[in-house]
Amino acid sequence: MPVLHSARHDRMKYGDIKLYTGTSCPELATRIAAHMGLPLCERQIIQFPNENLFIQLQSSVRGQDCYAIQTTSAPVHRNLMELLILMQTLRLDSAARVTAVVPYLCYARSDKKDQPRIPITARLVADMIEVAGADRYLFLDLHAGQIQGFFSIPGDVLTAFYILIDYLKAKKPTMKNPVVVTADLGFAKKARNFAVSMDVPLAFIEKRRISNDSKAQALTMIGDVRDRDAVIVDDEIDTGGSMIQAVNLAKDNGARNVYVVFVHPVFSGNAAERLAALPVAEFITTDTVPIPPEKMAFFGGRLTQLSVAPLLGEVIQRANEGRSVGELFNE
Ligand code: R5P
Repeated sequence: MPVLHSARHDRMKYGDIKLYTGTSCPELATRIAAHMGLPLCERQIIQFPNENLFIQLQSSVRGQDCYAIQTTSAPVHRNLMELLILMQTLRLDSAARVTAVVPYLCYARSDKKDQPRIPITARLVADMIEVAGADRYLFLDLHAGQIQGFFSIPGDVLTAFYILIDYLKAKKPTMKNPVVVTADLGFAKKARNFAVSMDVPLAFIEKRRISNDSKAQALTMIGDVRDRDAVIVDDEIDTGGSMIQAVNLAKDNGARNVYVVFVHPVFSGNAAERLAALPVAEFITTDTVPIPPEKMAFFGGRLTQLSVAPLLGEVIQRANEGRSVGELFNE
């Protein structure tokens, strides 16, 4: 009996790339697909009257390299369940490999037991992603890098840093004596990378979170922002509380123009409206979380949303071909 052998399968270890998405980030998924010159695969997602979800693939993925693209912003639990069910569906249809592509990972702030009698929900989410059938993950700017340790599957944690920094470098000639300000000490190391790449000084805001009700308090500005353009950086804006205090503190300390730079525009509740009322020259963020048009409208053109789709598309391509992702970033 002849041994079946195909040169194509030597090259394509994991089969063809199949891009699937839930309902959380259709624009981003479409941009990734367009960047890669691939279609988004058809699937049906139904929510029954009892809120249970049903997913059916419209074609077979047997032996294929499947990517489930789903951000886990609001509605968090619906989006998370869609991701999990989509991956189980791919697994049960005998996909060769399933990768969870999650531009914004929910519960990432619940990453330690720093009070008595509380959960570590980020760990629970990691377990659920694995149990649902992920062989790999692809995340962007995790709130805490250590969350990778909650997974026993391999994956890539990417950063939008290069996308944001390219934009800021192009903008720098229009700024007066810019200084990078970190809104959160937990982001200080990344903020330093911004400052080094822009070749400008760095200032810090010392902030203490004093309760569980999402209210943060900015306390002190460490560094000089007087008569300088302040570029305030953070990983995400959720309720906007931290950033509003940071902008006000920068202004109180004599900052000239303020630019607000962050990766994940979570914008819970009325955050967009409250942020848009601030004396900020420009908000610069990414599309890891979609911003509804009604929230976008508050900013009247002062919010720039840079796409992470080319980055995710390139990394998916490399993962499929078994090529280094690090060399994309000269690592
Ligand atoms: C804090 O640890 C983070 O870096 C952000 O500052 C925080 O997630 C922002 O949350 P909010 O917008 O609700 O103040």
